Amino acid sequence: MKLMVIGGGGREHAVIRKLKENPDVETVYALPGNGGIAADAVCVDVGAKDIEGAVRFAKENAIDFAVVTPDDPLVLGMVDALEAAGVLCFGPAKNAAVIEGSKVFSKNLMKKYGIPTASYEVFDDPAAALAYVQTAPLPTVVKADGLALGKGVLIAQTREEAVEAVKSIMEERKFGASGDQIVVEEFLTGPEVSVLAFTDGKTVKPMVSSMDHKRAHDNDQGLNTGGMGTVAPNPYYTKDIAQVCMETIFQPTIAALAAEGRPFKGCLYFGLMLTPDGPKVIEYNCRFGDPETQVVLPLMESDLLTAMLACRNGTLDKTDVRFAAKHACCVILASDGYPEHYEKGYEITCDDGISAQVYVAGAKLADGKLLTSSGRVLGVTAVAESLPAAIDAAYADVEKVHFGNAFYRRDIGARALQALKK
Ligand code: AMP
Ligand code: GLY
Repeated sequence: MKLMVIGGGGREHAVIRKLKENPDVETVYALPGNGGIAADAVCVDVGAKDIEGAVRFAKENAIDFAVVTPDDPLVLGMVDALEAAGVLCFGPAKNAAVIEGSKVFSKNLMKKYGIPTASYEVFDDPAAALAYVQTAPLPTVVKADGLALGKGVLIAQTREEAVEAVKSIMEERKFGASGDQIVVEEFLTGPEVSVLAFTDGKTVKPMVSSMDHKRAHDNDQGLNTGGMGTVAPNPYYTKDIAQVCMETIFQPTIAALAAEGRPFKGCLYFGLMLTPDGPKVIEYNCRFGDPETQVVLPLMESDLLTAMLACRNGTLDKTDVRFAAKHACCVILASDGYPEHYEKGYEITCDDGISAQVYVAGAKLADGKLLTSSGRVLGVTAVAESLPAAIDAAYADVEKVHFGNAFYRRDIGARALQALKK
């Protein structure tokens, strides 16, 4: 089979490596891929948001199956366009991807179908929002409705911060049209868990759970980033909690989307908080998480392409989806200064003897050298029989990767280890 994968980050690199384990896969094209992905796929100079370009490429190259991974093309309707052109896809149609594309949509869906989430109010008028945050309980959480590169959530500890948050999103339009509407919601507490799930619109099969580390620096200090590392499974996510989530969140969400005429086919990401009142949804994403994918897929024992085809064809109930009873740890190496200002263009080199998977997120090839090209540069994922062994193995291999201005957190997995000791 000839496959094409849309996107060019560490998540896509992990997806491509896993897809290639299936012997039926002849060629994988990455649109656009990156300099590191080029070792595993044929990179094509078509941007991840270029719907026409993707359709043209798929037709001209007789692509058998397209995997659309990033949020932007999904929310823009790339799957609809490809399917209309006769190209089979993994990924939700536009009318289901809205579960990530609009927080107002997802909150209203959860309210209508009784899916546990933080209580909230929606505003499209800045004056009404400003009046509301004068009396809302603190801390309060202000969210832009639309996509905002993962930065559209502001947690206000004081009235002043709440007012500032509303003004920056609605008046200064920090996230453009994504802030035409906002959600102001209750502040929840508890450990966070990421659960990615395969679904064909009827059946839902969760993957192994994981824990992201979103802040830039150790001990959860510094700015929010796209994710600085992950471990899987997440020790807070016990079998009992998984059962509760299946019954109160996963199945009801899939059924709700189907009942609304928006069947979701693809990977649905549940961002959960395990609150004192039980698990609640913090956010949905209409796609694989990054860097969650870099720990989840290395633990997958069954075939990824088979599961993806089953999601497309509605046969997930008959499809084997299995994960190893092992542990994985991914440490992200970034350019110092990320997520703000950083330098790039440094050569990346690796010592011999790396046994971890290295998934490249931001690099380009120039004169045969691999050069850093973005904030998050690569992820090093190790798999082992125990969490401490996975963490040690990942950090041992991190020491074997070199580039100018590299920085990484030293405490990926530390909180998970503490939870295991309790
Ligand atoms: P999101 O972009 O929706 O993933 O939100 C980013 C982060 O903000 C989440 O990972 C949580 O840590 C935090 N957050 C979002 N909503 C809430 C909430 N209602 N209460 C507490 N923290 C939240
Ligand atoms: N790691 C969080 C996300 O992919 O949105």
